[in-house]
Amino acid sequence: METSGLAPNARPSAKLDRAVIFLGPPGAGKGTQAKELARKYGVPHLSTGDMLRENIAKGKPLGAKAKPLMERGELVPDSLVLKMVAARIEQPDCAHGFVFDGFPRTVAQAQYLGEMLKQHGYRQPLVIHFAIDPGLLMRRITGRRMCKVGGEIYNIFDRPPRVAGKCDNDGGGLEQRQDDREEVVGPRLQAYQKQTAPLVAYYRRLGRLREVDAAKSVDEVARRVLEVVDGAR
Ligand code: AP5
Repeated sequence: METSGLAPNARPSAKLDRAVIFLGPPGAGKGTQAKELARKYGVPHLSTGDMLRENIAKGKPLGAKAKPLMERGELVPDSLVLKMVAARIEQPDCAHGFVFDGFPRTVAQAQYLGEMLKQHGYRQPLVIHFAIDPGLLMRRITGRRMCKVGGEIYNIFDRPPRVAGKCDNDGGGLEQRQDDREEVVGPRLQAYQKQTAPLVAYYRRLGRLREVDAAKSVDEVARRVLEVVDGAR
């Protein structure tokens, strides 16, 4: 879900002016924190998962190709994702930076992104790795519910809405993602280990990686993310 409105605790004078990448396994909290950081800096939150789900909901050809793969917990081919991302970061609202959540997910995507950023005159990205014990992920994923209207993220176990089934922000109904069913979690975690985890070493070698302990509370993780982003500017 994309966010560009400024939050009450926004930092309008502080420009992000770069790409920030949230890297970590499914359920680590990337979306929750990406929304928050994007609000604070008034830049877009670019979730490739949300973009793909939007293509599915609107019945677009890209959505038709992505749907069966996502329902099985597999990655969508690089060629499709890269085209979608390239078109998005050319939009004027990306001029002062953006927060990627769920992209890049393969070394090929990371290499392509590096080239795209160079072409657009951006600095190379800051990558925040959400480090977490995989044992914590099942509860986070199967308990997740998302607002159908604004995309706000809840958890029926740990972050319930004030009124069951309704979003605190806009009263929208909450729903469970298709791929958050218990039987799809295993394949998603395997895809992460095999195809995405190598990016940790890739970005570490490039000196771009910073670690965050994603097992901490939402507020503590948010504090640490801000510390990292502010420290890197
Ligand atoms: P995507 O939508 O990107 O999902 P994901 O990466 O699997 O990540 P999640 O959205 O599951 O988790 P999250 O880390 O954002 O956690 P969240 O903040 O929601 O991708 C879906 C699919 O699309 C992929 O499987 C693939 O098929 C395809 N796809 C997407 N991008 C692609 C790409 N680049 N290339 C190829 N294919 C692609 O939090 C989870 C839960 O935990 C919530 O309930 C939340 O309330 C709770 N929570 C969050 N933080 C905390 C905390 N600190 N403490 C306690 N609970 C917390």
